[in-house]
Amino acid sequence: MTKTNLPLDADRLWTDVMALADITDPARPYTRRSFTALFLEGRAWLARRFAEAGLVTHIDAAGNLIGRLEGSNPALGVIAIGSHSDTVPAGGRFDGIAGVATGLEIVRALREAGLRPQHTIEVIDFLAEEPSEYGLSCIGSRGISGWLDAKMLDMTGPGGEKLRDALRRVGGDPDRLEQAKRSDIRAYLELHIEQGVVLESQSLDVGIVTSIVGIRRFEIIFQGEADHAGATPMALRHDALVPAAQTVASVRRIADLLAAEGSGYFVATVGILDVDPSASNIVPGRCRLVVDARTTAPELMQRFTELIDQESAAYATASRVSRASFTLLSDGPPTMCDANLRASLRRGGRDLGLGDIDLPSGAGHDAVFMSRICPSAMVFIPCRAGKSHAPEEWADREAIAAGAAVIYQAVRELDQALS
Ligand code: GLV
Ligand code: MN
Ligand code: MN
Repeated sequence: MTKTNLPLDADRLWTDVMALADITDPARPYTRRSFTALFLEGRAWLARRFAEAGLVTHIDAAGNLIGRLEGSNPALGVIAIGSHSDTVPAGGRFDGIAGVATGLEIVRALREAGLRPQHTIEVIDFLAEEPSEYGLSCIGSRGISGWLDAKMLDMTGPGGEKLRDALRRVGGDPDRLEQAKRSDIRAYLELHIEQGVVLESQSLDVGIVTSIVGIRRFEIIFQGEADHAGATPMALRHDALVPAAQTVASVRRIADLLAAEGSGYFVATVGILDVDPSASNIVPGRCRLVVDARTTAPELMQRFTELIDQESAAYATASRVSRASFTLLSDGPPTMCDANLRASLRRGGRDLGLGDIDLPSGAGHDAVFMSRICPSAMVFIPCRAGKSHAPEEWADREAIAAGAAVIYQAVRELDQALS
């Protein structure tokens, strides 16, 4: 591992990551949920940093914060670097943030080296990469790639607010989404913490991402009848939580089986379980759960969905409860990263003397949607014990700088190679 003489300022990059991470709900570090006042505060801070770095900054119709450094030959198009500044509830300091700060540092380093790229460089903070309160993730990257449709804009969040109104609130324009759609981006690069243990356990500096899992999310609602928990005999209950709990157990059992088959990566999680009215002396009247399933093999996803559909319906019948809905919230196939960009990243790392490995991603990323409009690739950096989506999430200053330097090298190479 040679991490000296990197072509950028590791301390400045680290300072940015920490400053953005500090903009958090103090009662629940590290929380900066998309569409909240804190999120807008983080974005205002970022916009200032973008401007200080000489970037011309705007928010596009899909709500993405974009900083542009005009190229010497803008007709060549754009090389984009980005990630997201929103977090999950009680998440970490690096997921997404490290990637946005990397783009910013690369622009500053290029300018300080007196290098004016031929391509325009854009640093993009995509709106709401994490699942938002509206039930949708990757809202900005869906928008930029033309995959944000009217049905999605009608999804509702806190207080019944529609996503289209929330988008307006953060500076986007749901009536002009076609303006966000891009055809001028020639390459997209994203740095992200690995969120796994491969790099750390093998003492490697960077992972060159090969593919990103497909993610399907669906919502199941069981409708029973709220009743007195003491006065309602067992035989007369319509308890909505019972089939929901059985469904949670099915998700685990079926996912274990599919993962063990070995025909592809498969994981599934129930991370949301709302019990209504949620009181110790009331039989639950309504229960909602959200299933998040991920795979490299679409055939496994199909089988999983069919089995959960059948079993959850059967559990509802057995509990004299209605399965009021089984609704697809979002669905995307696995994504391959671009081979030429991966090769460029690999060369960049090796020129710097860094150790690399090819790695698949079990997490979703904005690169999934970007790959639908331009060649896209990602660099993973080690994070402590693979921990992520939790406050303990940690990546070292040198690790971030090394990953950022790999993207810097690739940007310089691509600026010459892409015509
Ligand atoms: C994003 O963090 C995801 O993989 O859900
Ligand atoms: Mn995340
Ligand atoms: Mn992320």
